[in-house]
Amino acid sequence: MIVTKILPVLAAVGSAVAQSSCKATTTTVASQAEATKIASCKKFEGSVVVTGDGGIDLSGPSEITGDLKVFNISNLDYITSSTLRKVGGKFTLQALEKLNRVEFPSLTEVGSLTFQALPALDAVTLGPLSKADEVAISDTFTSRVDMINVTTIRSLDINNNKRLTSFVSALQTVTGALKISANGIGLGLEVELPNLIWANELAIANVTTFDVPSLRVVNGSARFDSNFFESFIAPNLTHTEKGDISFVGNGALTNLSFPVLTELGGGLLIANNTELEEIDAFPKLRKVGGAVKLRGSFKDVDFPSLEVVLGAFDVSSTEDIRKVCDKLKELAPAHQGGNGKVEGTFTCTSDNAAANEDTGAGSTGDGQIDGSDDESSAAGVVFNTALFGLVAVAAVASAL
Ligand SMILES: *[C@@H]1O[C@H](CO)[C@@H](O)[C@H](O)[C@H]1NC(C)=O
Ligand SMILES: *[C@@H]1O[C@H](CO)[C@@H](O)[C@H](O)[C@H]1NC(C)=O
Ligand SMILES: *[C@@H]1O[C@H](CO)[C@@H](O)[C@H](O)[C@H]1NC(C)=O
Ligand SMILES: *[C@@H]1O[C@H](CO)[C@@H](O)[C@H](O)[C@H]1NC(C)=O
Ligand SMILES: *[C@@H]1O[C@H](CO)[C@@H](O)[C@H](O)[C@H]1NC(C)=O
Ligand SMILES: *[C@@H]1O[C@H](CO)[C@@H](O)[C@H](O)[C@H]1NC(C)=O
Ligand SMILES: *[C@@H]1O[C@H](CO)[C@@H](O)[C@H](O)[C@H]1NC(C)=O
Repeated sequence: MIVTKILPVLAAVGSAVAQSSCKATTTTVASQAEATKIASCKKFEGSVVVTGDGGIDLSGPSEITGDLKVFNISNLDYITSSTLRKVGGKFTLQALEKLNRVEFPSLTEVGSLTFQALPALDAVTLGPLSKADEVAISDTFTSRVDMINVTTIRSLDINNNKRLTSFVSALQTVTGALKISANGIGLGLEVELPNLIWANELAIANVTTFDVPSLRVVNGSARFDSNFFESFIAPNLTHTEKGDISFVGNGALTNLSFPVLTELGGGLLIANNTELEEIDAFPKLRKVGGAVKLRGSFKDVDFPSLEVVLGAFDVSSTEDIRKVCDKLKELAPAHQGGNGKVEGTFTCTSDNAAANEDTGAGSTGDGQIDGSDDESSAAGVVFNTALFGLVAVAAVASAL
C-alpha cells in the first residue's frame, strides 16, 4: 500500500526533472515563476542568468556547474538560495542598484565570485565560502567580508567598499594578487592576516593596519600606497623572489621594519612618506636585484648589511643629508669612487625641496638594469641626472 503510493510520486519527480531540463548551456530566469525551471534539479549542468526583478529565490539545486550571473537590473532587491552549495564557474552580481540582500547560507564553493557596483548591498550571507579561486568585492555597501573564509586563493581584490573597516582572514597563500584599496571611507580598513605565509603580489592602499606576522615570502612585488598606518612591520619576511618592495605616499608612516629581510629580487622604492625620519628598516638586507630609490624628508639612511645592488642607488631628501650621502657614497661603483657594491649609478642629493614630488617607480624594477647594459650606459647617464630620470621612467613604463 505504502509502496504503491510512493512509486508514482518518485516517477513524477523523475519526469519533472527530465522536463525541466537540468542541462542547458544557459538558462534565463526572468521572474520568480521562472525559477521553477531549475527548482527541481539537484544539479544544474550549465549556466544560469537571472534577469528578473523584485526578489528571486533560487532554492532547489545544490550545484550549478557553470556560471550564475545577475547584472544590470535596477530594481532587484534580493537574491537567495537555501540549497546552493557550489557554483562551478563564475558567481557574478554586478551593477544592481537596489540589491540589498544576498543570502546563500549553503554556498561554500565557487570558481570565482565577483560582487561589483552594488551600492545598496548590506546583508551578505554565504556558507561561508571555503573554496574560491578568485574573489572581487568592490563598490558595495557591506561592512563585512568574513563570509570569505578561504585558506588559499589565486586573487582577492577588495576595493571601494565604503563601510568596510575590518578584514580578518585565515588566508595562508595567495598564488596571484591580493589587492586592497579605498575601503572604509573616512576610517580606513584594518587588515589582519595572521596566517598569511606567502603571496605572489601585494598591492595595499588606504589601510590603517596591515598585520602579517607570518608572511615569509613575497614572490613578486609588494606595494604600499597612500596608507594611513604609522607603523608597518614584516617580522618574518625574508625575501622577495622576483619583485620590488615599495612604500609611496604613506603620510603617517614613522616606523618601518623588515628585521629579517635579506634579499629583494627586484628593487626598493621608498618615496613621499613625509613623516619617516630614518630609513633604517633593513638591518639584514644584503642583496637588491634591482635599484634602490629613496625620496623623502628623512635625515638618516642606513643599510648596514648591504653587499650587492644590481641597479642604481638613488637618494634624495628635503633635509640636510650631506653627511649621509658621504657615507653612502662608499657603496658607489668604482668609477664613481666607491667600493662597487652598487653596480648601477650612485646619486645622492641633500636639501632637495622637491624630493617628495618624485614618486615614480623610476629606476627600481627588475629587468631594467643588468650588469652589462649598465656598464655601457653608465657613462652617459652619470652626468645627466635629468636624462637618467626620463630613461628610467620610460624603461619601467614599458616593462609594465
Ligand atoms: C551593463 O550596462 C552597461 C550600460 O548600461 C553596459 O556598459 C555594461 O556592459 C552592462 N554590463 C553587462 C555585464 O552586460
Ligand atoms: C573558517 O575556516 C576555518 C577552517 O579553515 C574554520 O576553523 C573556521 O571556523 C571558519 N570560520 C568561519 C567563520 O566559518
Ligand atoms: C587611496 O590610495 C590611492 C593610491 O592607490 C590614492 O590615489 C588615493 O588618494 C587614496 N585615497 C585616500 C582616501 O587616501
Ligand atoms: C616566524 O618564522 C619563524 C622561523 O621560520 C617561525 O618559527 C615563527 O613561527 C614565525 N612566526 C610567525 C608569527 O609565523
Ligand atoms: C612563492 O614562494 C613560496 C615560498 O618560497 C613557494 O612555496 C611558492 O611556490 C611560490 N609561489 C609562486 C606562485 O611562485
Ligand atoms: C605625497 O603624499 C601626500 C599625502 O601624504 C599627498 O597629498 C601628495 O599628493 C603626495 N605627492 C605626490 C607627488 O604623490
Ligand atoms: C617600531 O615598531 C617596532 C615593531 O612593532 C617596535 O618594536 C618599535 O618600538 C617601534 N619603534 C617606534 C619608534 O615606534
